[in-house]
Amino acid sequence: MNRRNFVRAAVAAGAAAAAARAARGAAASDLPPINYDESKVPAYTLPDPLIMADGTRVTDAASWRRRREEILRLFETHMYGKMPGRPEGLKFEVRSAAADALGGTAVRKEIVVRFAADPAGPKMDLLMYLPSKAARPVPIFLGLNFGGNQTVHPDPAITLSQSWMRPDKAGGVESNRATEKTRGSSKSRWPVEQILARGYGVATAYYGDIDPDFDDGFQNGVHPLFYKAGQTRPAADEWGAIGAWAWGLRRALDYLETDKDVDARRVAVLGHSRLGKTALWAGACDERFALVISNDSGCGGAALSRRKFGETVGRINKSFPHWFCENFKRYNEREEDLPLDQHMLIALMAPRPVYVASAEEDRWADPRGEFLAAKGADPVYRLLGTDGMAAADMPPVEQPVTSIIGYHIRKGKHDVTEYDWQRYMDFADRHMKK
Ligand code: GCU
Repeated sequence: MNRRNFVRAAVAAGAAAAAARAARGAAASDLPPINYDESKVPAYTLPDPLIMADGTRVTDAASWRRRREEILRLFETHMYGKMPGRPEGLKFEVRSAAADALGGTAVRKEIVVRFAADPAGPKMDLLMYLPSKAARPVPIFLGLNFGGNQTVHPDPAITLSQSWMRPDKAGGVESNRATEKTRGSSKSRWPVEQILARGYGVATAYYGDIDPDFDDGFQNGVHPLFYKAGQTRPAADEWGAIGAWAWGLRRALDYLETDKDVDARRVAVLGHSRLGKTALWAGACDERFALVISNDSGCGGAALSRRKFGETVGRINKSFPHWFCENFKRYNEREEDLPLDQHMLIALMAPRPVYVASAEEDRWADPRGEFLAAKGADPVYRLLGTDGMAAADMPPVEQPVTSIIGYHIRKGKHDVTEYDWQRYMDFADRHMKK
């Protein structure tokens, strides 16, 4: 680009950014103030997960199956949107396999998951580490990552992601591409050695491989693969980005089912924050996931929407218009009109073990709302003959609840820490079917 065009492009980009800022500012000032005051949480009534749409009461496991279908349809229609099934062109290619990874303690595999028969089509790189010593097949934790597989461990053999990235604080991303500097940059969130030492494998993929996390009207990522003739964006009740990421987790599970080293009946799906919302939705849609973990997932994840504490439906839809389906925007500032709330999402995991975790300083994600949603799923879990959520009230900081609906709130900020992982592994030791 010559200098004049460069200046012109820079001015245009600056103007666009200013316009976007102005638009955001205008939108934000229309919104009610952010509430962090428990005494200002509105009175609300949650929909009863055990009453069918026609008013009849769910009384046994068989009628729960019918109610479960209804609830799943509600979340599809009003919140996350419907997702397609497994694509015909789905293919798995082993990119690398090493038996001597991490000083001989681990097997490392990289799998290319191709979503379409066309080699130029979208694909996802799956990275796995398995403990060398553990008996096969091993149980495994599966979760998406925010910055590319190379961020989860400094291991120089991990393929550096070539995908589009959001800029990072440490400056490891240049022109929306990851550089070598990003290796291991999120290792505190992925304690790989500890996971392996406890006999679990770990598998991860970059969420942007499935759908880059910005609002482009669903032109990139996996959405266009499924457009009908003439369709240019998802319908109002079809998947947004969270739906696509959850779909990607299901495709990772499709691969794991083919890997003889992995016990596909013992896959725990987990995620942090927007990827915690994603893990919950994946676990709700796909009962092959044996255990589901939400780390600080907040609004649109584990937190009850009706509390309007911290982030709200209106705020999340304005900041991230591409995450949910179009229909969800009807509920901006009208949470009480939702035919569902997030306790019903947790109930969709029943009777499988589910764990919700919060952080004390993460008020934006509404820790109490996360606890109350987990608690709100208790009647469904009890109907199905489990111990449900053992705590009557929110437990003190760092005193985990370990019933089949698990919960903890730890000290500190919005993050995934070793404390969180140790609790997840304790919980998996206790509940993931042997
Ligand atoms: C923002 C957003 C949250 C989300 C978080 C994250 O804070 O408002 O809903 O969970 O980003 O994904 O880190």
